[in-house]
Amino acid sequence: MSHIQIAIDGPSGAGKSSLSKAVAKAMGIIYVDTGALYRTVGYFARSRGITLDDMSALVPLLGEITIEVRYENEVQCVYLNGENLGDRIRENEISMYASGVSAIPEVRAFLLDTQKDIANKNSVIMDGRDIGTVILPNADVKIFLTASNEVRARRRVKELAEKGMPVSYEEVLADMIQRDEQDRSRDIAPAIAAPDAIHFDNSYEGFDEALNALLSVIQNALQKESRS
Ligand code: DC
Repeated sequence: MSHIQIAIDGPSGAGKSSLSKAVAKAMGIIYVDTGALYRTVGYFARSRGITLDDMSALVPLLGEITIEVRYENEVQCVYLNGENLGDRIRENEISMYASGVSAIPEVRAFLLDTQKDIANKNSVIMDGRDIGTVILPNADVKIFLTASNEVRARRRVKELAEKGMPVSYEEVLADMIQRDEQDRSRDIAPAIAAPDAIHFDNSYEGFDEALNALLSVIQNALQKESRS
């Protein structure tokens, strides 16, 4: 049987990762967080003293990076040159670095095979910004997940606080708006919905409600596909 591919795109804080993780668990497939790969490259850039206004200085250093994705107790771990960075890639400043490196064509090309490889070997739900458009253009189901700016910023604040990285709502909201605009308007793989993506507004308050609604959208789409 061929592998299932579910692509989830959308801006930060729309709930992509928490919903995708839960869908993966419910369907017995693997959750792939591609933002973690860009965050890892962003972490490397910062560690080399590269500044946000001169991200292209990273290009000649890409040969020094080895990235490996491993699943440990069903959790995705990203290793940078043999080291598992864990939650260090979640820092607010690293979000800006990730957005910066993700606009560099050489970085996107560098991370392409890693993403495709995982999807070729496993049934996946993969989230990011260009999954339905570039990485898995033939995915069985494509979802574009959105929510209002306020709901998204509140989610990010909560998520960071839970990870012991408190940031103010105002700072998160301002950074998020800037980062989304940067991601959407870049020349390469802009963060936009694939023409055949199903739009799903996740402004739900209750997680279970959102999860059940998303699961039924996915299951309906898979059934429709198997009939066609
Ligand atoms: O999903 P995230 O917030 O962890 O992603 C971090 C940054 O990486 C985000 O600003 C956009 C970028 N990104 C991307 O360009 N393409 C992806 N497939 C995933 C993330």
